[in-house]
Amino acid sequence: MQVLETVEAMRAFAAARGPSAFVPTMGFLHEGHLALMRAARAHAPVVVASVFVNPTQFGPNEDFERYPRDTAGDLEKCRSAGCDAVFLPPVSAMYPPGHRTHVSVSELTGPLCGASRPGHFDGVTTVVLKLLNIVGCRAALFGEKDYQQLAVIRRMALDLDLPVQIIGHPIVREADGLAMSSRNVYLSPRDRAGALCLSRGLEAAAQAFGAGERDPRVLEATARALIDATPGAAVDYVEVRDALDLTAVEAPLTRPVVLALAVRFGATRLIDNRVLASG
Ligand code: PAF
Repeated sequence: MQVLETVEAMRAFAAARGPSAFVPTMGFLHEGHLALMRAARAHAPVVVASVFVNPTQFGPNEDFERYPRDTAGDLEKCRSAGCDAVFLPPVSAMYPPGHRTHVSVSELTGPLCGASRPGHFDGVTTVVLKLLNIVGCRAALFGEKDYQQLAVIRRMALDLDLPVQIIGHPIVREADGLAMSSRNVYLSPRDRAGALCLSRGLEAAAQAFGAGERDPRVLEATARALIDATPGAAVDYVEVRDALDLTAVEAPLTRPVVLALAVRFGATRLIDNRVLASG
C-alpha cells in the first residue's frame, strides 16, 4: 500500500495505475469506513482511500482541533481493508495560500445539518470535488449515515457532469444498534448508553410506518418521544423529508421519505436516519 502525501504523488499513482474506486475519510477509521473500502473493490481494480480532516467543513465553534486523529492506526486499517493507496495530504497541500474557490450546492444544503452547521456543506463539496479531481477515480463511496451529505454530493456530481459514479453504502452499526461514527469516542458511558435513543427512535417510527402511519408529524413525534425521555440527550432536529430531494413533506405520505435525526450529548452531536418506503 502506498502512502501519498502530495497532490503530485497522488496524480502520478493514478496515471500509473488507472481509475480507482475511492473512499474519502476524515480518519479515525471504524468498521463503517472499512466496509466502504472492502465494497470499493467491486467497482475498480484499484482502491484508494484518503485521510484528511477537512478544516473548511467545521464551524468556528466546532470540534476541528479536537477531532480524533490516529494516522498510524488508520494506515494499518486501510492496509488490512485492502487499499492500494492512501492519500494523506497536509492542510497546506489542499488549501495552499491564495485558495479562493468554493463549491456550493443550493437548496439541498438548507435544512437538517445545513441549518445547524452553516457553511458545513460548502466545505464538504469543495474538498470532495478537489479530492475527486486529484485522485482520478471512476467511483467514490460514501456512507448513508451522512444521508444529506450523500444527497448533496450526488447532486454536485450530476450538476457538474463529474465522470464519477457516486455510491452509497448502508449504515454500519454497533451490535446494539448505534450507528458507527468517529465521534462516538467522545461519549461518556452514560451518554453511550443514552445514544441508543437515536436508533430506537428510528425503529419506533419505522414500526409505526409499517403499521400504516402516514403522517410525518406523528412519525417525528414517535421518534422524538424516545429521545426526549433520554437523560442528557438534546434534539437538534427530528425531521421527515423527501428521500430524494430533502424537501418538506406533509400528510399523507405517498413517496419514499427519510427520517433524519441529529441529537446532542453535551458537545457531541450524533446523526442517524432511516428511509421509510412502502412496498
Ligand atoms: O464524511 C466524511 O468523513 C467527510 O465529510 C468527507 C466526505 C471525507 C469530506 O471531508
